[in-house]
Amino acid sequence: MTLTEIMQTLPYGPAPEAAKPALDWIKAHKARFQLFIAGRWRAPASREWFATINPANGQKLAEVALADATDVDKAVKAARKAFTDWSQTKGHVRARYLYAIARQIQKHARLFTVLETLDNGKPIRETRDIDIPLVARHFYYHAGWAQLMESELAGYAPLGVVGQIIPWNFPLLMLAWKVAPALAMGNTVVLKPAEYTPLTALLFAEICQNIGLPPGVVNIITGDGKTGAALVEHPGVDKIAFTGSTEVGRIIRKATAGSGKKLSLELGGKSPFVVFEDADLDSAVEGVVDAIWFNQGQVCCAGSRLLVQEGIAEKMYAKLRARMEKLRVGDPLDKAVDLGAIIAPAQLEKIQQLVQKGVEEGAKLWQPSWAVPAEGCFYPPTLFTEVAPASTIAQEEIFGPVLAALTFRTPEEAVRLANNTRYGLAASIWSEDINLALDVATQIKAGTVWINSTNLFDAASGFGGYRESGFGREGGREGLWEYVKKIEVHRTAQGQKPRARGLTARASAESLPPIDRTAKLFIGGKQVRPDSGYSKAVYTPDGRLVGEVGLGNRKDICNAVEAARGAFEGWRKTTAHNKAQVLYFLAENLSQRAEEFARRLSEQTGQDGGAEVEAALEALFTAAAWADKYEGLVHPTPLRNVTLAIPEPIGVMGILCPDDQPLLALAHLAGTALVMGNTLVVVPSPLAPLSATDFYQVLETSDVPAGTFNIVTGEREELALTLAEHDDVDAVWYAGPRAGWALVERASAGNMKRTWTLPPSGPLPDTQEVLRQATQVKNIWVPYGA
Ligand code: NAI
Ligand code: MG
Repeated sequence: MTLTEIMQTLPYGPAPEAAKPALDWIKAHKARFQLFIAGRWRAPASREWFATINPANGQKLAEVALADATDVDKAVKAARKAFTDWSQTKGHVRARYLYAIARQIQKHARLFTVLETLDNGKPIRETRDIDIPLVARHFYYHAGWAQLMESELAGYAPLGVVGQIIPWNFPLLMLAWKVAPALAMGNTVVLKPAEYTPLTALLFAEICQNIGLPPGVVNIITGDGKTGAALVEHPGVDKIAFTGSTEVGRIIRKATAGSGKKLSLELGGKSPFVVFEDADLDSAVEGVVDAIWFNQGQVCCAGSRLLVQEGIAEKMYAKLRARMEKLRVGDPLDKAVDLGAIIAPAQLEKIQQLVQKGVEEGAKLWQPSWAVPAEGCFYPPTLFTEVAPASTIAQEEIFGPVLAALTFRTPEEAVRLANNTRYGLAASIWSEDINLALDVATQIKAGTVWINSTNLFDAASGFGGYRESGFGREGGREGLWEYVKKIEVHRTAQGQKPRARGLTARASAESLPPIDRTAKLFIGGKQVRPDSGYSKAVYTPDGRLVGEVGLGNRKDICNAVEAARGAFEGWRKTTAHNKAQVLYFLAENLSQRAEEFARRLSEQTGQDGGAEVEAALEALFTAAAWADKYEGLVHPTPLRNVTLAIPEPIGVMGILCPDDQPLLALAHLAGTALVMGNTLVVVPSPLAPLSATDFYQVLETSDVPAGTFNIVTGEREELALTLAEHDDVDAVWYAGPRAGWALVERASAGNMKRTWTLPPSGPLPDTQEVLRQATQVKNIWVPYGA
């Protein structure tokens, strides 16, 4: 090539980062790594080892131990032993350890960077500028929460031993997202890295050793899916935190059902990248590069569906193709490379198959004119246009550098297409009209929405999914709740026992009118007969018949869910002020009938009904009060940017009420869920359903919109199962016997609905906990700059 030619084309020369520091580190360990348990390196009980490969050249980097159930048991026991002291360690001391970890990561940044790139195949530019700095940031940020826990999370305690299972796409970053908050809140950890990428976690273990972290606080066990499963099933684990495929997430949901283990799942996605015609197109094109070609598209929140407004679609595609032509795929250690290697041949094959499927289903494929390196695991950036919304490539997570483009005409259509997915992890919205962008942001069902930006992450912002993308948040204040529990687990609604005063109306049973009616069900704002036509007798604690209620079945639940779904959008959009008004008026109407309710309660429960009515009124007032006071946050993420953390309703909820204090429970649980914008299918306690059925009349005379509050009486377990299995129900709260917890949690795996299980009796959970369970946090990133 002549100098003139070079001046004309300005081709990049190779600019490789040296692999030597990482290779030396591996060599110093004789390319063989044991398990890190109780602060020491131990050979695996299994005596088995497996290789970890550099996907860019197929060469083996090292052998690592394959932990089996015995090893898992050792690690869990070590973590349990360490928990006693660690959980008692002052927040300030824990903060110092986390700070020391962060400092060490920065000091060894280059080694971590190169090692990560070798093991995973991602471009060095990304490990150097994104992964490793964010890892350090997570430890610094959570050092702060350790410091502040005693004041800011007063009344909360760590959970105990946490099992953490992470994927291969951001190996050290996912470790940081999990380990940092767990340690900050005083838990101890057993972490299993992904089998493709164990090395940086092992280097991290060395750092824990070097800073003198007490043995057993962090244990790292390498292995495969079986190792992960053994950790999930270990009875000594108090919580499982998982990031990975939805398929495995579902297995874990079922495996932990009924065990009482706390669970957070961060799963797959098919995130929309929405470009309106007034967007800055050149910025949007760069956005697409970051959305789908970052980390070769192996990103759970990758913007893999491009939704572009019809009028600018061709222009956008043309710019995109021009940009794609200039992307560089190759040696991940080369600092000028945009896309590195795909993690493994199996993943490459999966990508190829899905692309093939896209072609077969009629979408138009475009790839750059150049070829990817023949050796190693590479795939070119790929654009599909003319994609049908229901086609495989528009619905399935490809987890590769493949973008599926669809067009829309109106903002409403954009929202509809964006939400046309089982997932709900993230979304990106491009428009110069902030009104439009924020309006659309609130309508897209996703845990993170980036406006005129994409794939921004920070420790101060929560991250996690809606729908089948999982539940729980990582990062931000909201992420801390995943790693703590309330010290006195349950209290009554207002933190005190219902007082015996006021409207006591303990009428003797003899004076009550004879039974003259069977309570129906309350669906869509109307009293309706149960589909079965059957009813069920209700007795007093001493065995006298006091009434009959309808025996609801699957069909009734389906009708109630349909009514609740129909009412959801309208209720969600009702202002917080008006939602509060609805509850206050409901309370007012209840108080009008206080005596009647008090009598009914006394009769059903044998307790002071007057006090319970009082407490229920107070609970409705508390719920109403929170309507416009349960605030979100503005997270100070380190960019010119506001990150709005907004609590949003979850959607259609099933609530199976506890047996104690039936009216108070209804007011406290259902009232709070309703006022947060959810619509409800409530199943009263089968022991004391009559207060709920009497409540129909209160609902009818109030302003509670039809369909928002449905009540179905019947057998608790049967109705719970139907609700938990229903794909249009977004959450189920189940108060009942332990066997029912397992039933509900297992069945919830179908659409990954959120569940909350409570005992059938005893004091009710505290209001803050109910508010948190009734909402999910959406983080909306709004960058600014003229
Ligand atoms: P995976 O979900 O199988 O692996 C994630 C982690 O879970 C690994 O540490 C693995 O060892 C562990 N694991 C596997 N089976 C387990 C079980 N039964 N119990 C407990 N732990 C278990 O993901 P994999 O096989 O690496 O990739 C398959 C597909 O999953 C990818 O093609 C991609 O579509 C998706 N994926 C999504 C990720 C995300 O962040 N959303 C991350 C990784 C993969
Ligand atoms: Mg590897």
